[in-house]
Amino acid sequence: MEINIGIKLILSRFCIVIALAIVCTAQTQYACDAKDPTVQAYAFCNMALPIRDRVEDLLARLTLQEKINQLVNGAANISRLGIPAYQWWQEALHGVAVSPGVNFGGLVPGATSFPLPLLTAASFNATLFYKIGQVVSTEGRAMHNIGRSGLTFWSPNVNIFRDPRWGRGQETPGEDPYLSSTFATFYVRGLQEVDALLISTNDSTSLGPSRLKVSSCCKHMTAYDVDNWNGIDRYHFDAQVTAQDLADTFNPPFQSCVEDGHVSSVMCSYNRVNGVPTCADYNLLTNTVRNSWSLNGYIVSDCDAVRVLFDDTNYAATAEDAVADVLRAGMDLNCGSFLAEHGLSAVTKGKITEADVNTALSNLLTVQMRLGLFDGDPTRQPYGELGPKDVCTNEHQQLALEAAQQGIVLLKNDANILPLSSSKFRTLAVIGPNANVTNTMIGNYAGIPCKYITPLAGLQSYATTLYAQGCANVACKDGSLINAATNVASEADATILIIGLDQSQEAETLDRTSLLLPGQQQQLIYNVLNATTNPVVIVIMAAGPIDVSFAKTDPRVSGILWVGYPGQAGGAAIAQVIFGDYNPGGRLPVTWYPQSFTQISMVDMHMRPNEVTGYPGRTYRFYTGPTVYHFGEGLSYTNYSYGFSSAPAQISVSKASTQPCSALQIAGLTQAEEEASCFHIIASDASCSSLKFQVGIKVSNTGSMDGSHAVLLFAVPPAGAPSDSPKKQLIGFRSVHVKTGTERKVSFNIRPCKDLSTAREDGERVLLGGTHTLSVGDAQFRLPVLSSLER
Ligand SMILES: *[C@@H]1O[C@H](CO)[C@@H](O)[C@H](O)[C@H]1NC(C)=O
Ligand SMILES: *[C@@H]1O[C@H](CO)[C@@H](O)[C@H](O)[C@H]1NC(C)=O
Ligand SMILES: *[C@@H]1O[C@H](CO)[C@@H](O)[C@H](O)[C@H]1NC(C)=O
Ligand SMILES: *[C@@H]1O[C@H](CO)[C@@H](O)[C@H](O)[C@H]1NC(C)=O
Ligand SMILES: *[C@@H]1O[C@H](CO)[C@@H](O)[C@H](O)[C@H]1NC(C)=O
Ligand SMILES: *[C@@H]1O[C@H](CO)[C@@H](O)[C@H](O)[C@H]1NC(C)=O
Repeated sequence: MEINIGIKLILSRFCIVIALAIVCTAQTQYACDAKDPTVQAYAFCNMALPIRDRVEDLLARLTLQEKINQLVNGAANISRLGIPAYQWWQEALHGVAVSPGVNFGGLVPGATSFPLPLLTAASFNATLFYKIGQVVSTEGRAMHNIGRSGLTFWSPNVNIFRDPRWGRGQETPGEDPYLSSTFATFYVRGLQEVDALLISTNDSTSLGPSRLKVSSCCKHMTAYDVDNWNGIDRYHFDAQVTAQDLADTFNPPFQSCVEDGHVSSVMCSYNRVNGVPTCADYNLLTNTVRNSWSLNGYIVSDCDAVRVLFDDTNYAATAEDAVADVLRAGMDLNCGSFLAEHGLSAVTKGKITEADVNTALSNLLTVQMRLGLFDGDPTRQPYGELGPKDVCTNEHQQLALEAAQQGIVLLKNDANILPLSSSKFRTLAVIGPNANVTNTMIGNYAGIPCKYITPLAGLQSYATTLYAQGCANVACKDGSLINAATNVASEADATILIIGLDQSQEAETLDRTSLLLPGQQQQLIYNVLNATTNPVVIVIMAAGPIDVSFAKTDPRVSGILWVGYPGQAGGAAIAQVIFGDYNPGGRLPVTWYPQSFTQISMVDMHMRPNEVTGYPGRTYRFYTGPTVYHFGEGLSYTNYSYGFSSAPAQISVSKASTQPCSALQIAGLTQAEEEASCFHIIASDASCSSLKFQVGIKVSNTGSMDGSHAVLLFAVPPAGAPSDSPKKQLIGFRSVHVKTGTERKVSFNIRPCKDLSTAREDGERVLLGGTHTLSVGDAQFRLPVLSSLER
């Protein structure tokens, strides 16, 4: 969806003039006001009753029109029952964000603004994902308590960053389904989970563990990752996706979000998948999300996606058919107004029944009740003590800094030129269109940050700086500012070039067509390199990958850092990394492709390569072509080495459950190998899904600086596996701090049928017999999966 910054929920306010200061307090309206005895008597307000009963009671009191008016994001008031209007649409992608239900100002002028998720994901630190969620929900609750925000946040975005050109890749945790699943699970839990102490000691209601701190939403289901490319826009795009790619690439983050994160909402997307609009897909919404994954929550459309079914694409013959298509498929809430406009006539015309409306509304009311929206004054509920003092606290802002530090990726460091010592490099040239930016650092779905530390400001606390923009903006249409830049470079002890992209290049509704630096940015870099023999370090502030092969291979470029869109404290983090107060440990969450990749069509959704057509496939799991930097790449100011300290000698599965390998056409095995290992087993089979084991990894810091390091554990399928298997896949990660000269052990709990399995063409996951390989860095461990009669 796209937010019109101008849209704001208009709250009625009382302004009281106290001395010279004007204090505006939003009038907080809430249902079930304890001060109103009439309202309090309603069973739906009775906190001692089970939620199901309260929802049923409320439904029974509403007219059909009143019910229909609740199925849109701007839900109308039902003032005869003391229920205020409710704005469902809040955003919190990386901090409470400007959105229709969020109203910054007064006592809350801003909120903590974290890096965009793509950079946060580069930390490979699940604790960080969780803690950011906790801070965001604390700030959201605090704003809610004074009437400045609703409690339903439509974040995170867990679509797979499938194509480097996608304008919204910045919002996602990257290209890997396991990383995205983990991000979804932990960010959602951080947002939604109520402190256990708070429930047990203070909660006398029936809500118990179903209570939500705030409600989170995983979006946009599914296979949504084209915004506007080559004349194809997201509203009209019909993604052709195989069952295999859905099963092992596009859907896993949503499944984890629901099953492991217990998210209370899922959003269906604008695009169609194999001809069917996702918001009208019964199989996807009802069979899969609600029934198979057991969503306890509501399904919301992307904004205006219901109107799109009728007005833009003629998928539905009439407006009422569009209403029926989505409600019957299992969608509950329409972001937009289409359902409120056409819902009643859909019932009158017999396209839907009141029971369809009740089903959707029950799902919505249940989430509202779990949030306490029918429990009266929010300041008398758990988290009721939160207020403006809990927004932008030092602790929250410190976490925004930590997130940026942990995500930054060191890509090149010739002759260990970094970190710079501030006693040696006293004068720095700081150059580039992103060298002194504010807004650029907070990307899209941004709030109003507590404050900014620009890269220039960050570097100024370490050295005397000579600043030159070099280009007027990232588009860098002309070279008129380049001379001034080369002048400062020639006078400095070292040059930091801060270049890249911003929302004018990659954004919602704007995909890129090139992977090169825009305009004259590369020219700027070349000119600077010619102007100095002192070290030059390039800092890439951008989300989507950029083909910087020229800088990677040019010996005059001493260092390269990728800093994503690093949030409000980005400049401080960049400077601390450059001067060695933080040892970088981030690793790329996406493959960096060369410019030649743009020859393939962005709308070809296939993940797997095709030898016949020369299509190279996508992401590190399948892509067969050259890369500029690979998934997981990232250096440090120290060195690490790995070893396997424990792992099982073999995994045996019950022979009775296996299927012969002939079905998978595994070739090239000796007869003995065939007998022992040529089989596969359906991953969901009970004898398979119950298998688990532990792997222990030793990580040694062999260099001369302490550091935090993300250990990435991959699995490689057995030799002779079907050619459509991934080359390797991430099955675990853990970020650990390792002091120089010491060793740490990390252990991973592996469920082979979930983690080592691969998707068959029909979308079924299977575990292949044979010798799988586990790998961490250079260390490898061979793990045979055998069938045995004994099991
Ligand atoms: C409820 O909504 C109606 C229709 O929009 C509006 O006229 C009325 O003022 C609202 N009542 C309250 C108490 O907000
Ligand atoms: C919950 O109870 C604890 C201890 O009983 C108290 O310190 C805390 O303030 C209470 N919190 C709320 C929100 O009432
Ligand atoms: C850098 O940006 C800040 C914030 O926008 C601005 O106040 C300052 O003047 C800029 N510095 C230079 C040297 O342009
Ligand atoms: C840089 O210097 C080299 C050799 O001196 C020259 O060939 C090249 O054209 C120069 N490039 C720029 C961008 O000035
Ligand atoms: C890491 O080890 C490599 C190879 O031994 C060495 O060239 C490099 O300088 C080391 N890097 C650091 C940061 O110690
Ligand atoms: C993971 O993130 C948390 C929160 O920032 C931090 O306290 C912890 O040190 C991080 N772990 C590592 C190994 O850096």
